[in-house]
Amino acid sequence: MDNRRKIPVHVAIIMDGNGRWAKRRGLPRTVGHTQGARTVEQILEDADHMGIRYLTVYAFSTENWSRPDGEVKALMNLLRTYMKTSLAKCARNNVRIRVLGDKSRLDKDLQEAIANLERDTASNTGIGFQIAINYGSRDEIVRALRSAAAKVADGSMDPSEITESMISDNLDTHGIPDPDLLIRTGGEQRISNFLLWQTAYAELYFCDVAWPDFKKEDLEKAIDAYNHRERRYGGLIS
Ligand code: FPP
Repeated sequence: MDNRRKIPVHVAIIMDGNGRWAKRRGLPRTVGHTQGARTVEQILEDADHMGIRYLTVYAFSTENWSRPDGEVKALMNLLRTYMKTSLAKCARNNVRIRVLGDKSRLDKDLQEAIANLERDTASNTGIGFQIAINYGSRDEIVRALRSAAAKVADGSMDPSEITESMISDNLDTHGIPDPDLLIRTGGEQRISNFLLWQTAYAELYFCDVAWPDFKKEDLEKAIDAYNHRERRYGGLIS
């Protein structure tokens, strides 16, 4: 990669293709997720070294509950293991973790592990790593609007105070700059209810590589493509 390239501040990733990666090898889909979790760890390290300040990954959507029980359990166990074991690594690498999504549907021990990890990494100053679990962008917007509506109903807020920045401040990503680049692996070209509000101006990059095979070089390719796009804001090329 050209070292003069502009590094996006915030990269978001839809990690698709785990199931097909496993199937091609005659393995259960869950093995694809396990390998995908390894890829997450490596890419987080690579992103940090490249100077990316925020990395957000879509680990489990609100729709993923409809997958077979065994697959849901396997994914939850991977996330549980990650939450319970990654503190030492985050401390070493100065990573700050935040989980996006509605945590209330997750098992209590997983909720606790998430709360502990978020609390214990909150003052780290390195890369911000957001993991979306039981996340759906429409659900996130509904939750934000309900809390605004409650304030209007109890008289503590006037409807005129509902602004774009007020909505941003009430999303799970509050305080985090919007993604500059959204990558989807696995060959499909959809947003799948991920960060709909936050990616309003993001560059979109789709690649055929299955998530378990995604490497630093693939991330570099995405950043190269991002650098070659003409960034137009309201018609002006920046
Ligand atoms: C999509 O592949 C991927 C998921 C539904 C899960 C992604 C989760 C991980 C990679 C594990 C996350 C772990 C950590 C530590 C954050 P798919 O199953 O839809 O693949 P397919 O389209 O080939 O069937």
